[in-house]
Amino acid sequence: MAATAVIHHRETSSPVPDDQPNIANAADVNSAWGGRYAAGPSAIMQAINASIGFDRKMWRQDIRGSLAHAAMLAHVGIISADDEAAIREGLTAIGAEIEAGGFPFSEALEDIHMNIEARLTERIGEAGKRLHTARSRNDQVALDVRLWTRDAIDGLDAQVADVMRAFAERAAEHAGTVMPGFTHLQPAQPTTFGHHLLAYVEMLSRDRGRLADCRARLNESPLGAAALCGTGFPIDRHMTAEALGFDRPTRNSLDSVASRDFALEFLSACAICATHLSRFAEEVVIWTNPYFNFVKLSDAFTTGSSIMPQKRNPDAAELVRAKPGRITGALVGLLTVMKGLPLTYGKDMQEDKEGIFDAAENLALALAATAGMVRDLQPVVGRMQEAAGAGFSTATDLADWLVRELKLPFRDAHHATGRLVAKAEGMGVDLAGLTITEMQAVEPRITDGVFGVLSVAASVRSRTSHGGTAPGNVAAMAKDWLERLA
Ligand code: ARG
Repeated sequence: MAATAVIHHRETSSPVPDDQPNIANAADVNSAWGGRYAAGPSAIMQAINASIGFDRKMWRQDIRGSLAHAAMLAHVGIISADDEAAIREGLTAIGAEIEAGGFPFSEALEDIHMNIEARLTERIGEAGKRLHTARSRNDQVALDVRLWTRDAIDGLDAQVADVMRAFAERAAEHAGTVMPGFTHLQPAQPTTFGHHLLAYVEMLSRDRGRLADCRARLNESPLGAAALCGTGFPIDRHMTAEALGFDRPTRNSLDSVASRDFALEFLSACAICATHLSRFAEEVVIWTNPYFNFVKLSDAFTTGSSIMPQKRNPDAAELVRAKPGRITGALVGLLTVMKGLPLTYGKDMQEDKEGIFDAAENLALALAATAGMVRDLQPVVGRMQEAAGAGFSTATDLADWLVRELKLPFRDAHHATGRLVAKAEGMGVDLAGLTITEMQAVEPRITDGVFGVLSVAASVRSRTSHGGTAPGNVAAMAKDWLERLA
């Protein structure tokens, strides 16, 4: 009766493959934990429980962790040297098997940990069954995810450094190339293309700092926390921690298996970095729009339209612009999984991995695409120069001149400049197009000297304050970054 009900359920719900009876089967009992089980899981139980479809990505970390664990077990005399040697050879062979694509991954064995362990026992017999002494999948998975995240941080850090280098190289090249600086996406003051690019180098350097902070905090080994309470075996957690490149073992076994804040920090650092990249990507979309025409991307980073032959679409930029969707999604997803979870381990935490993997892989793609676009893009210098002078962009320079030369309080200078802008606008000229007589009608003390500050070149040259846009500053800053990144 019960079986019929379950089978009926199977027919009305699709995730269960038709060739798998959705009923318990004694032959399928998992030998890793099935001692008290008479029957195996229903097919749907197996489907929801298994993580092998995605956690196989951690096979290298799993083998590394097991090698360190086995070496420690032998060192303290929990297993024999012969068993350790057999385990080492077996795990090495399994690594080669996975690498070559010949490993028989099994969903019935749930996850990467049990797949590798079962295969080990298949290959080396008895010794394989001793590997899991003084260890649990709870500390094992906590270890593997930390190792994977640490590897990902190292890879991403190198990529962020490369993007910074690309920005700094182009900034050095364009330290004196003027362009409009914007606030509210309205022309504000002239700046230089180099200065604009270096703003991203600053953001990305803080992204590297966040990754480094995250790495430093995650770099403690949870291995040896066992299921949750530690173990009575005389293990040496310092030895495994050191062998795996950790600074020290974690200090509380419950925390070790229950916590994923290292992953949350990692995802948060990824989300912030992706957000920075998306801002640049959006600027590329704007700049390459023909109405702006500030930069051109080559065929290498644009695509055509199948119907509109004139089109050159900035698809790479658009996709980089979109990546925070899934990366921030992974952060919010894991925060939500962890929220309210009672200590210690809960199977909920198996849901940490796909988000971490996806975020890291997509950030890597976004970084590579950004580095490519930065190296590819060609600024349309004449067009940016022309735009930099439009929209009364040197009005602040005029106001500053009134303060410096006529000792006007800044607020009065701002007001007088506003009247001059309105006058010029009414006459259809820019500020330098007003005659001195027309200017003196607004502020009688103005002299010819004012024309010296109304050009775009003079405007950017004057901004020599620390961190300012003056080409000399920008060139020095670009050089400094290139040296630091060398
Ligand atoms: N696949 C599991 C995960 O990713 C491994 C840990 C399972 N532990 C357990 N007690 N069932 O979280």
